[in-house]
Amino acid sequence: MKKLVVANWKMLPASLAEAREILERIDGCLRDGVDADLVVCPPFVFVEEVAQMLAEGALAEGASLGAQDIADRDEGALTGEVSGPQLVKLGVRFVLIGHSERRWKLGESDDVVNAKLRAALRAGLVPIVCLGERTRDGAWQEELAAQTAATFRGLTAGQVGQCLIAYEPVWAISTNPDAKPDTPAGAVQSMSHIRQTLADHFDVSHTTFLYGGSVTPANAKEFLERPEISGVLVGGASVHPEEFCRILMVATR
Ligand code: 13P
Repeated sequence: MKKLVVANWKMLPASLAEAREILERIDGCLRDGVDADLVVCPPFVFVEEVAQMLAEGALAEGASLGAQDIADRDEGALTGEVSGPQLVKLGVRFVLIGHSERRWKLGESDDVVNAKLRAALRAGLVPIVCLGERTRDGAWQEELAAQTAATFRGLTAGQVGQCLIAYEPVWAISTNPDAKPDTPAGAVQSMSHIRQTLADHFDVSHTTFLYGGSVTPANAKEFLERPEISGVLVGGASVHPEEFCRILMVATR
């Protein structure tokens, strides 16, 4: 199985011209023999143009389009958010659900995340469900288990089977002060904890796990060489084409 590399651009780059530049560079490194699956999640304002860029050159073969969020309502709601059907019409295939910065900086609750997950599934999108504890102090494993159970509450086994899970501990995300990446062993242990929590209700033997949190060209290899880790979710490094291409190279086996 190819490894999966997800680029989460968050609120970057500042302009469409820069987005084009990043994608041109990534197109170049795909032509240089990268053999990994790639998902690019741009900010909503660039989704339509990025969809067009991903339809050209080597990107057309090797890259898919993702969104960073979805409304828990369908088209026609009055909240000014972006609906699943709108994303699908633009060619989006994947969507990040419950990204930690939404959970912790915008106060997105497990209930809201659960509703967004349902909206993604209703629209036929592949949810990349983000889970991760805030700190490693105290009862963090209980926190992770409770977040996992609440995020997937009420779903069917078939629905859970359609999800990818990104383990992304908040303390490891590069935008946090003192952030440092988890160790591969620590990440695998947490993934196993998530898996066990879900295994009480669902068959997760085939569920795909990604690691996110300060992934760089220097540490990507040690995460990606673990068989339990199917890919990486990359924030900061994903808008620096040189760094991101090196991560894609590392993911190529
Ligand atoms: P960094 O790679 O910048 O730590 O961001 C991780 C992340 O939030 C990706 O979703």
